[in-house]
Amino acid sequence: MTFDIKQFLPYLNIDLENSTWNGKNIGISGNLINSFAPDAKNSATSEAASFRWANSQRLETDTAFVAQQFDDFTGRYDFQNQAGFEAFLADKKVFLEIGAGEGRLVDWVIKYSDCLVIAVEISDSVHYLSEKYKDEPRVLVLKGDAIDLPINYESIDVVSCEQAIHHTDYPGEIFTNLCQYLNVGGHVLLSVYAQKSPQRERFDRIIRDSIAKLSPERKFEISDAMTSIGKLLHEMNVEVEIPNEPSEYGTISGQKMDIQRFLYYAVMKCFWNPTFSFEKCREFNHDWYSYPKHHTVSFQEAATWFKNNGLTIDHFDVNPSNVNLLGRKK
Ligand SMILES: C[S@@+](CC[C@H](N)C(=O)[O-])C[C@H]1O[C@@H](n2cnc3c(N)ncnc32)[C@H](O)[C@@H]1O
Repeated sequence: MTFDIKQFLPYLNIDLENSTWNGKNIGISGNLINSFAPDAKNSATSEAASFRWANSQRLETDTAFVAQQFDDFTGRYDFQNQAGFEAFLADKKVFLEIGAGEGRLVDWVIKYSDCLVIAVEISDSVHYLSEKYKDEPRVLVLKGDAIDLPINYESIDVVSCEQAIHHTDYPGEIFTNLCQYLNVGGHVLLSVYAQKSPQRERFDRIIRDSIAKLSPERKFEISDAMTSIGKLLHEMNVEVEIPNEPSEYGTISGQKMDIQRFLYYAVMKCFWNPTFSFEKCREFNHDWYSYPKHHTVSFQEAATWFKNNGLTIDHFDVNPSNVNLLGRKK
């Protein structure tokens, strides 16, 4: 079977013949739609993400890395394992992946279901995705901003927002927009960066603001240093008990943890996982600070988004790194 855009038309709010969306010119070429106007300038978010993915250490064929990522994903949404994820997808026809990056989730949906996938991405990583899925008739790549997409209302069975909508000042508005595309009974997977201790939030703002005007290359060098600090702290192998005061430590107050985790939660994102390569850890550190904006989310805020959009909350997982919710449109 070859790619045929016609099978996606029930879900797309486009005029295929004239290559327009609401009267505006868009680009349509093979499996790639560019919903931005031809002369549109890349946003700062798109610039940051384009640099990140152009410099990504591609690990899609690293079975240990992919297995670790898949376990983490299925755990956060309570799918438990591959069989649970397959069962969840069994009755779904179309999956909208917001912020597809290099296709981590797209790969799993294609592998474990018969769904069509619309992979939305704001950055130039769409060219990588388009090439990657050129022989996969079930994937359409859509360059666009999740705040407004050429997707038909009430046409989608699953909307997934994995770590994608918190690089703006208005993630709640984006979420509300995405819910309009959902069928009644359709599911939402939401994972956003969790609100950290007040101290870490403050440091994040200082770091982000102080590097905002630097070139992507210089930001990459700085994330190199942050990664080295994370590695060094981990190798110290020291456990610390977080004092209850000052209250600036937030929910980690009173806990015992490795010193690297303490600095990570209380001061800055110096991510280090000894089972990942240095380059992959650096990519995660760089990713967080390279965007001009961030908006971390508390469970209460995410739950309000669900309530305001008429969604049930069927499962939630809140950990110090991210807030994850699975729900359904009533
Ligand atoms: C951390 S990556 C997550 C990738 C993928 N969802 C996954 O879980 O592997 C976040 C992606 O969201 C994209 N993104 C950020 N804001 C977006 C927006 N407003 N619309 C579409 N994509 C966006 C970024 O370009 C980036 O590729």
